[in-house]
Amino acid sequence: MHRGKGMKFVGDSRVPAERKPNIPKDYSEFPGKTEAFWPNFLLKEWMVGAVFLIGYLVLTIVHESPLEKKADPTDAGYIPLPDWYFLFLYQLLKYKYAAGDYVLIGTVIIPGLAFGALMLAPFLDTGLERRPSKRPIATGLMLLGLISVTYLTWESVVTHDWEKAKTQGKIVDVSFDQNDPGYQIYQQQSCVGCHGNTLTGGASGPSLIGTGLKPEEIMKIAKEGKPPGMPPNAFKGSDEELKQLAEFISKLEQK
Ligand code: HEC
Repeated sequence: MHRGKGMKFVGDSRVPAERKPNIPKDYSEFPGKTEAFWPNFLLKEWMVGAVFLIGYLVLTIVHESPLEKKADPTDAGYIPLPDWYFLFLYQLLKYKYAAGDYVLIGTVIIPGLAFGALMLAPFLDTGLERRPSKRPIATGLMLLGLISVTYLTWESVVTHDWEKAKTQGKIVDVSFDQNDPGYQIYQQQSCVGCHGNTLTGGASGPSLIGTGLKPEEIMKIAKEGKPPGMPPNAFKGSDEELKQLAEFISKLEQK
């Protein structure tokens, strides 16, 4: 079949049947419609680029970054959350057969199959048909992918404890003297494991900033514990040290 300027077409109208060597087109028949790449075209590109660059700079200054407190390695209770575009992978790892003993399935095998298939698609799907309805396998897999990602993202948003997430990384501004003997004692005791390096709370203990407790009350808690969470006899040391520790904690105030 012949069409156009005597060019022979195959099923996909963009692919000429005879391959031609890749020679740049001669644009001389379009006077005024072309321009030199250097410097004319590049200058326009740069100007558009500069507008976006300045726009983004302004955005970063106007919109403060949503920073949380400094990462605390002793805080095992902190639940990190990926950005929204990775929530589906995060959610996947919550399912029994994609986590724990099967974590390789969730981290390597399922994502590997999905992204591997995407990369292999051009080689596997060589048909010339372009209508989605005529390509049931490709269309089906794409739909499956889209539905899974949407569903997993949705699930992770509705099951996440957003109230807790708001408080867990909150910047608590406390300034205390790191050389205070009370703090030195605190760090040598088991307290630090539960109440955190900066006493702002951690894996299993609440913050000790601004408790309003008197030194005697803190000494009592350190010895007898506080049910249900805090065990008795958490403090191991002399009464003198305990007093210093309790006085240090009772003085802590949030700025
Ligand atoms: C095993 C973890 C753990 C250890 C170790 C621990 N605490 Fe606690 N602590 C807790 C928990 C949990 C609570 C909250 C108790 C509750 O109200 O259920 C708590 C509560 C407290 C409170 C009362 C806070 C308030 O606002 O009422 C003080 C004071 C305190 N701890 C001091 C200490 C000191 C001092 C040490 C070290 C000698 C220490 N804790 C060691 C887990 C711990």
